[in-house]
Amino acid sequence: MLIIWTTGLLFSMTSLGDAYVLGIVGKSAVLPCVYNGTFDLDAGNVSVEWRTGSELVHRSVLGKEQEVMQSVSQGNRTRLVTDVIRNGDISLLVSDVAVRDAQSYDCYLTHPGVQSSSPVCTVHLSAAAPFSHPAVLRVDDAEGEEARFICHSRGGYPKPTVHWFIDDTQHPLVGTVHTYSTLLPESELYNITSVLSVNLTRDMAVSCAVENRLLNNTLTSVNFAVQVKPVVSRASEAMWMFSTALCVLVGLLVVTGVVYQFKKDYSHKKNHHQSLERGGCENSSEDERQQIILEHLDSLTETTV
Ligand SMILES: *[C@@H]1O[C@H](CO)[C@@H](O)[C@H](O)[C@H]1NC(C)=O
Ligand SMILES: *[C@@H]1O[C@H](CO)[C@@H](O)[C@H](O)[C@H]1NC(C)=O
Ligand SMILES: *[C@@H]1O[C@H](CO)[C@@H](O)[C@H](O)[C@H]1NC(C)=O
Ligand SMILES: *[C@@H]1O[C@H](CO)[C@@H](O)[C@H](O)[C@H]1NC(C)=O
Ligand SMILES: *[C@@H]1O[C@H](CO)[C@@H](O)[C@H](O)[C@H]1NC(C)=O
Ligand SMILES: *[C@@H]1O[C@H](CO)[C@@H](O)[C@H](O)[C@H]1NC(C)=O
Repeated sequence: MLIIWTTGLLFSMTSLGDAYVLGIVGKSAVLPCVYNGTFDLDAGNVSVEWRTGSELVHRSVLGKEQEVMQSVSQGNRTRLVTDVIRNGDISLLVSDVAVRDAQSYDCYLTHPGVQSSSPVCTVHLSAAAPFSHPAVLRVDDAEGEEARFICHSRGGYPKPTVHWFIDDTQHPLVGTVHTYSTLLPESELYNITSVLSVNLTRDMAVSCAVENRLLNNTLTSVNFAVQVKPVVSRASEAMWMFSTALCVLVGLLVVTGVVYQFKKDYSHKKNHHQSLERGGCENSSEDERQQIILEHLDSLTETTV
């Protein structure tokens, strides 16, 4: 009992306060821990144990010749940083960090029959993954002057904050923003989609920024330039309708004129024919002849107009 108490005290006397480590998903992270107590780590059969709560993550048994025998856990992604324990460095290297590795880790030293009562080190690991460079697209389904833009970025962690800018001014000042995130089941990373609705009243440059607060970085998309077409105002719409109506009217008049002329020509020819039947040109009076010529001239001038 005394031995356990003494050893426990020896093992646990150098708690230097909790450490905080940020791991990047897919990369390696080191959970730092240095034992500078008086217990001889070369004594033989001393084990280093890294645990999350009660779950054993990693155990290395320190051999007599300072050989490190590792017990494998977590898919062989953990090992002590140093092969040979010098200066009490029992830091743990976690490779291929995943989002689910973001936990608090306690490091214990054990000797057959004894285990330290409190951890030598406590390390809080958080995980972050950079988002892809955001891209802005315009979706053309809106009515009137309203336009919708989509900002998409993928494969990051944790959920980011999305900012929209119009001509370098942050929004929403006008317009509305809806941001959706999709959890990728395998990696526990996020895809992010943000939708900005804005009324296009002038030329503008739209961009979005994805802020990852853990990584302290913000990725900004390239500007999406929008050129507003010359405004089709109510007035010019009315002008257009008026000129259309005018064209139709003129067309109708022309058609009516042509039909009328055609009919007139027809009845005139008929009359002329009848007069020939009645006794030829000789019988028709001088007046009548003049009338016919005048009418022909008339029709000529009318058709050339
Ligand atoms: C262990 O390290 C801490 C901080 O570096 C120091 O205050 C303490 O005196 C050291 N203990 C021993 C036994 O060296
Ligand atoms: C280590 O433990 C084994 C049995 O588990 C024992 O035979 C050996 O003597 C121990 N070595 C030391 C240095 O205590
Ligand atoms: C664990 O990984 C090391 C290299 O990092 C390799 O040498 C060893 O064979 C692996 N062990 C297992 C059980 O996969
Ligand atoms: C655009 O303008 C219309 C009316 O002018 C308004 O109802 C709508 O809410 C506006 N949309 C946005 C995104 O400002
Ligand atoms: C995440 O985004 C990528 C690229 O845009 C896409 O291929 C993938 O299907 C998305 N995954 C989910 C679950 O939405
Ligand atoms: C975030 O980054 C900026 C510049 O990139 C730097 O000035 C700032 O100190 C950083 N903040 C933190 C909390 O790391």
